[in-house]
Order: sequence, then structure tokens, then C-alpha cells
Amino acid sequence: MSTTDHQTVQNEIAALATTEQSLEAFMQRICELLNQHFLKYNWVGFYMVDPNDPNTLVLGPFIGSITPHVRIPLNEGICGAAVSTGQTLVVDDVNSDPRYLACSIETKSELVVPISVNGKIVGEIDIDSHFPAAFTPEDRSLVEHCAALVGSYMESHPS
Ligand code: SME
Repeated sequence: MSTTDHQTVQNEIAALATTEQSLEAFMQRICELLNQHFLKYNWVGFYMVDPNDPNTLVLGPFIGSITPHVRIPLNEGICGAAVSTGQTLVVDDVNSDPRYLACSIETKSELVVPISVNGKIVGEIDIDSHFPAAFTPEDRSLVEHCAALVGSYMESHPS
């Protein structure tokens, strides 16, 4: 996929931010669009900090195989590490990362981008690929942009 394609998808998702009626629907459409446009994005989903248990992430909208990891403690997994550190994590080879919690044996690489609302990390976008080292700087930038759009949506639609 070229940079132009990333830009097109980014624009499409930015437009959705103004038309989707609920946060849940917006998140679901982001999963669908990313998965449809990029064949290497095999599992796309959200994990959100549980408001009733802030040390745990809860699975939100997703596209892809059913995962056993419906709840992930913040001190576990690549997912927990991204939210704990507030940093985007790109893991080129999940099997060589001791933090990795397996969802599918086909997964080879993973990209996790935290979502912040008013300066606080509230969740993340998690993408798994069946291809090793699937995520380029353009992928990272696109997904960081999506995470920023979700954060802005949450800021402007407080629950
Ligand atoms: N691989 C993640 C767990 C989530 S599943 O991939 C959907 C992790 O290591 O935290």
C-alpha cells in the first residue's frame, strides 16, 4: 500500500468522526475500514481501560478471530505495556517478545497505539498481522491518527 492509500483511508476515517452517532459505532467502523483496506491488518480492535477496574483493559469493538484475551491486566501483554507506558508499540516478531499474549498462532507482528482523552490514557487500538514486521512508519502514523480521532471524539462526546 502506498502513502496515498494511507492518506485516503485517514481522510475517510476523519470524515466518519463527524457523522457517526455513537463512540461504539465509530470504533466499529474504524475496525472495519482498516481491516478492509489493508490485507495485512488481520485483527483490528480496541481495548479500553475498565472504568470500574482501572488496572485492567476490556475488549471493545473488533474485527477478526475471537480472542481469549477479553480482559488484560495493565501489567500483562503488549497491550498492557502500551497503555502503561503511553507509547505506541511496534513489535516486528511477537514470538520473540516475552510480553506477548497469543491471540492466534498465525499472528507474527503487532502494532498497539494508546488513545488519550484530556491527557489521560483511556485505551488503545491493537492490530495484529499474519506477516512479520508488517507495520511501516506510514502504518504507525495512520493508526496514531485514528487513535487521536477517537480521543477527540470522546472529548467532544463525554459519557
Ligand atoms: N497480543 C496482545 C493480546 C491481544 S490479542 O492479540 C487480540 C498482547 O500481547 O497484549
